[in-house]
Amino acid sequence: MCGIVGYVGPRSAVEILIPGLARLEYRGYDSAGVAFWEEKGIAIIKQAGRIADLERSLARAGVPDARAGIGHTRWATHGVPNTINAHPHRDCTGQVIVVHNGIIENWMELKAELEANGHEFASETDTEVVAHMIEEMPEVALEEAVRLVMKRAEGALALAVMRSSDSQLLVGARRGSPLVVGRGEGENFLGSDIPAFLEHTRKMIVVDDDRVVAIRPESVTVTDLDGNPVEAAERLIEWDLEAAEKGGYATFMEKEIFEQPKAIADTLRGRIGPNGLVRLTEFAEAERRLREIDKVFVVACGTSFHAAMMAKYAIERWTRLPVEIDIASEFRYRDPVLDRRSLVIGISQSGETLDTLAAVRYARAQGSVLVGVSNVVDSALAREADAVLYTRAGPEIGVAATKTFTTQLVALQLIGLHLAQVRGTMDEGTIVNLVQGIRRLPASVEAVLETVPDITELAKELADTRDVFFLGRSGDFPVAMEGALKLKEIAYVRAEGYAAGEMKHGPIALIEPGVLVVGVATDSHVRGKTLSNMAEMKARGATILLVLAEGHRDEALSVADHIVEVPSGPDLIYTVTSVVPLQVLAYQIASARGLDVDKPRNLAKTVTVE
Ligand code: AGP
Repeated sequence: MCGIVGYVGPRSAVEILIPGLARLEYRGYDSAGVAFWEEKGIAIIKQAGRIADLERSLARAGVPDARAGIGHTRWATHGVPNTINAHPHRDCTGQVIVVHNGIIENWMELKAELEANGHEFASETDTEVVAHMIEEMPEVALEEAVRLVMKRAEGALALAVMRSSDSQLLVGARRGSPLVVGRGEGENFLGSDIPAFLEHTRKMIVVDDDRVVAIRPESVTVTDLDGNPVEAAERLIEWDLEAAEKGGYATFMEKEIFEQPKAIADTLRGRIGPNGLVRLTEFAEAERRLREIDKVFVVACGTSFHAAMMAKYAIERWTRLPVEIDIASEFRYRDPVLDRRSLVIGISQSGETLDTLAAVRYARAQGSVLVGVSNVVDSALAREADAVLYTRAGPEIGVAATKTFTTQLVALQLIGLHLAQVRGTMDEGTIVNLVQGIRRLPASVEAVLETVPDITELAKELADTRDVFFLGRSGDFPVAMEGALKLKEIAYVRAEGYAAGEMKHGPIALIEPGVLVVGVATDSHVRGKTLSNMAEMKARGATILLVLAEGHRDEALSVADHIVEVPSGPDLIYTVTSVVPLQVLAYQIASARGLDVDKPRNLAKTVTVE
């Protein structure tokens, strides 16, 4: 996720681009830059850091008097977040300038071709290939050159491009990543999202997939990739600025819950090969050591620890390696038995959680192989690891983790299957079937999100409940733990996550009328046992809410007071779908209680103290 802005018209472009970028900072903030025309051609000013840093640099240099330009705020996916990798990027001549949001999956192949033709690359980004590809077509009109690039580039991308030969033209293109045009009087705007230009105009055009848009001060032309003109309807924006920044959702957390299908699809992008097996190029260098490991440790905190719990079930089942999991703050103090043949996986969405960093550094000191799972490119965890798998969920603003959790689960599934492939512990047909299941997750999570109105009604009914247990077995156990954590942290309701079979060993004493028990029962070999445990709770007067894989309603009717069905799919993989109703339940209970879900009391998004 990154933010793009563009402006062409009679006003000072940079004075429009910078506030526009600031409004898009929620989309990423590790570096930023602008490009604009000046007398001698196009100038670029960019740097690592936030928009405010860029603004200060521009103010020091004197704000340029340009009438058109493009800008970018970056959330790194390829290449560390430094000044060189910051956008805009340019070709060898400095005449073609590009900003980009998304991932060009075949960029390595394109880059190799361009390098063979003599192009020199300045950055480590996938984006830069676009500038050099257009440089190859100096005689071709910019709109057409961008169409040709779009035909060759694979993956999700939104582009804004300018060329020094035409100071009145910006060209945008879109596939998968968002792009909107703001229509003004004698001026026009481009943006990844409406807030980029909302203070200047309320008229907008949504650019559809595989469309190229040419904007000049007086005109906006949209074409398909063959150059045929496409009619693009103008819409009036009715949101105010705050609503627009949250994409029309009431809170960032709600928006992030709804972003999960896209976030999961981004996690998967480019990581499944044409043969249907997992392809993790990130692990190429560590491959030899990964073959030699004889034990796995997974360390993390909070929600990320629940992802670690899931990883234990998956990695042990698929690779037959023993897996230990640890809350990161406990790991190094228990003196774990580690050596060079141990693989330690550190999970942290921020990549900066001190306890997790201390745990992986401890493991490094014992010579173990380190793999990181992080959402933040070049985070401290990423720098520490021998190999890192980025979850690519985009920035998460709400303090409670949602899309970073579901994408962690998917990333860990990929790691588990990759290890199974490398070690030959599963036959390829079985892996391909599981991978197909993973591929269906974005659509299945989308289907779960359609049930939000029903869960909202249920949440209103349950909003006054003060004692809640979340129960599950096997892969549903970490989901239960996560459901309880979500309810605690944003709704301030005392909630316990338990292994369903463990209740009878003590906690069942707390069950009485008025207690809510949320059971999670996906399509697994232990579903029947979970349902029996739920019957035990019901018999003692609890109200039962069941998150149940579809197709099993009849088995559950006698034990459940309420049922939320989730799509069925392969065991352990489809637990991803069952956490979504629990996020929504916690969110709606917190909202019904009038709480600030984005900033729950006493919590910080990143915990950098021990
Ligand atoms: C989750 O909703 C939390 N707010 C918290 O438990 C979080 O998961 C934990 O602090 C770990 O953060 P990390 O993934 O950035 O390391």
